[in-house]
Amino acid sequence: ALHLAGRHFLKELDFTAEEFRGLVALAAELKAAKRAGAEERRLCGRNIALIFEKASTRTRCAFEVAAADQGASTTYIDPSGAHIGRKESVRDTARVLGRMFDAIEFRGDAQGTVEELAQHAGVPVYNGLTDRWHPTQMLADVLTMTEHSAGPLEEVSFAYLGDARFNMGNSYLVTGALLGMDVRIVAPESYWPEPEVVAAAREAAAVSGARITLTEDIAEGVRGAGFVATDVWVSMGEPKEVWAERIKALSPYAVTMDVLRATGNPDVRFLHCLPAFHDLGTEVAREIHESHGLTELEVSDEVFESPHSVVFDEAENRMHTIKAVMVATLAAP
Ligand code: CP
Ligand code: NVA
Repeated sequence: ALHLAGRHFLKELDFTAEEFRGLVALAAELKAAKRAGAEERRLCGRNIALIFEKASTRTRCAFEVAAADQGASTTYIDPSGAHIGRKESVRDTARVLGRMFDAIEFRGDAQGTVEELAQHAGVPVYNGLTDRWHPTQMLADVLTMTEHSAGPLEEVSFAYLGDARFNMGNSYLVTGALLGMDVRIVAPESYWPEPEVVAAAREAAAVSGARITLTEDIAEGVRGAGFVATDVWVSMGEPKEVWAERIKALSPYAVTMDVLRATGNPDVRFLHCLPAFHDLGTEVAREIHESHGLTELEVSDEVFESPHSVVFDEAENRMHTIKAVMVATLAAP
């Protein structure tokens, strides 16, 4: 049984492999129950605060829909609508919200902020993305990998291509390490996770039996992989000026059909946390096209729209897994 009542959800390595798997299993149960029209409401009367210092489509909607499904209510606090961090300290905000709400979600830049909230809130705090980790995304990715693999997680191999120094690269590395998977970071060396993150992953791998590879070589990195994942090359909060250097360094690591073929696995699946730059469909993509001449960035439109792509299962699974986090930490046993 899962014993996570009252716990925070701040980063992957705060959990044992068993706890992390337990959350994924609970998400699968909640997903099946919802599909069958048999969902039991276990969070009636609960109130959840959602603090977003950065934009969000999936994470915000996942929390709101999951809470509503379970009978809880949410309050969305947008980047401009509260005093937090400007007129009122994180510590005071935590103590105020902790008196009104049963849990607090936070998305922003600094991991230190979500940890400070957790220290003072007196209620569970959930990390909805920081510059360092994106742990609720990892639950969704692992659920998606489980759904699209025949064997156990220890037999799953995945390669992450692109900027691996930020939340997604860091989180993939430690999550694969925690769960005993075969995880490959494929990027120029200057884009690998920082040594502290790699060391933490190696420590977790020593316990779990995970295989960790960091390589610049695409063919070596993706060979035999069951899943290929990537993320945007410029993350929220980074200045426009970095696009040129990112495009130069990371273009060879774009996920194209050639990369999928290089896995040698005809059933390889493609993952992306989204939003993705795979066509000219957005204002930002058109801006990049005008200044840098590219229509596709980290993933080709061909891959994104191909049967290999499971990105919308992954997006849906944000909701089921975030629901699992709230139920596990807040529901009466
Ligand atoms: N993947 C993800 O976190 O999406 P949002 O930024 O839309 O929440
Ligand atoms: N690395 C991206 C992930 C978005 C879900 C960002 O931080 O913007």
